[in-house]
Amino acid sequence: MEKNMKRLEGKSAMITGSARGIGKGFAEAYIREGATVAIGDINMEAAEATAKELGEGAYAVNLDVTKQESIDAAIKAVVDKTGKLDILVNNAAVFDADEIVDITRQSYETLYAINVAGTLFTMQAAARQMIKQGHGGKIINMASQAGRRGESLVAIYCSTKAAVISLTQSAGLNLIKHGINVNAIAPGVVAGEHWVGVDAKFAKLEGKEPGQKRAEVEAGVPAGRFATPEDMAGMAIFLASSESDYIVSQTYNVDGGQWMS
Ligand SMILES: NC(=O)c1ccc[n+]([C@@H]2O[C@H](COP(=O)([O-])OP(=O)(O)OC[C@H]3O[C@@H](n4cnc5c(N)ncnc54)[C@H](O)[C@@H]3O)[C@@H](O)[C@H]2O)c1
Repeated sequence: MEKNMKRLEGKSAMITGSARGIGKGFAEAYIREGATVAIGDINMEAAEATAKELGEGAYAVNLDVTKQESIDAAIKAVVDKTGKLDILVNNAAVFDADEIVDITRQSYETLYAINVAGTLFTMQAAARQMIKQGHGGKIINMASQAGRRGESLVAIYCSTKAAVISLTQSAGLNLIKHGINVNAIAPGVVAGEHWVGVDAKFAKLEGKEPGQKRAEVEAGVPAGRFATPEDMAGMAIFLASSESDYIVSQTYNVDGGQWMS
């Protein structure tokens, strides 16, 4: 690689759920590396604001990953804007927690529709476009440490993230013949609005003070702190770049030492 060469120069990427949080951090990092990034989000107002904040290289795309028409329209919008799609990051997801005896079908259906079906069918639509283009591509799915093991109050979310790890394995094996690399990132705990919601859920379920769960979790991280979205960005750039061309179906932990497999 030439010195000072940007690693994603000229690439066209879409990041789902990137109006805020980790996805927004990835968008910023990809633009820094020379890519043009579609901020795909169900919250269009926030997506527009993020695109504006990130400036040249970012644009907002209306996307609800639970709706096939919306996925297809978002891919079309990316191709109309940039002529192609080289990189997809399946990042949109939602969290919920409850006692097994209190879990509702609504919660199950919502989490599976966004975290699992959303990941699968956005990946499918991106792969179809990449195959049509004929020069491969990169798909990165956001898993979680939660997908590595169960948690007493987090059955649905944990199982959706285990499904993301499994989908990544099968899709990676299936798509590498087209030069499409499918891999995943399993973060540990990342500071941001997502964790504000997680902390509030646990406060209610476990009778804790606001902030108490977060502090307890942070105390258990070997690296001694929550991650920032920027901590995730190195792996996201690597998996989107040609440096990872021989990496297929893997899920990488980026979690400050919380999990080892
Ligand atoms: N934050 C953490 O500690 C953590 C840890 C492990 C894994 N993760 C995973 O990383 C990813 C990003 O997490 P985050 O903390 O940035 O989340 P976040 O809640 O801050 O952001 C999620 C984004 O997804 C969007 N979204 C929700 N439903 C959507 C839909 N149907 N279609 C399109 N967009 C939709 C939201 O509007 C939001 O902008 C998720 O997959 C999450 O499960 C996060």
